[in-house]
Amino acid sequence: MTTSFANSPNELRLICELPTESALPRAARFLADLVKEPAFLGSQILPLLRGASNAEGWYVARRYDAHDGAYSLQVFVWPPGTGTRIHAHSSWGAYACAAGTVLEERYDRLDDGAQTGYARLKKAWQLRWSPEDGASTVLPDDGSIHRVGNPGEVPAVSVHLYGPRTEEVDGRDYDPSHDYVCDRSVA
Ligand SMILES: [Fe+2]
Repeated sequence: MTTSFANSPNELRLICELPTESALPRAARFLADLVKEPAFLGSQILPLLRGASNAEGWYVARRYDAHDGAYSLQVFVWPPGTGTRIHAHSSWGAYACAAGTVLEERYDRLDDGAQTGYARLKKAWQLRWSPEDGASTVLPDDGSIHRVGNPGEVPAVSVHLYGPRTEEVDGRDYDPSHDYVCDRSVA
């Protein structure tokens, strides 16, 4: 399948109207195809690599939001040595690496969530994602607690698609050193 980035709003809307279990494989295929598309790489990704090493932290360089919140397509830049906190999203999500390599760590939640501010996590797995590796998918809420970063020595870029939110908050941030969790509000 060839993905045209110019036509992607229609494709994204179709994907994001599906139930989560159907949307995730479609989103993964869309992103895996997109990060192999020469026109997309040349116009949207390669320019971001210039200057990425000068940034102190990771950042969202491009963002395309549906007006009604049905989806958000975001391009993340990961300078060497940067990474997110451990977090979860209030929507399903999928992402594919478009340049360099990103490392994803995934965590299981061991407690039942009944105690406010408390979460006990256990690391489940970690994987390195490069452009030829396809896309990673995440379920909403505690279904896919993860951390993404770039422990390498060259910048990385990844493309993320998020479906509609299931809650008011954007997601949650976790600190396993203190068994702590807090809501992350909408930016
Ligand atoms: Fe995430």
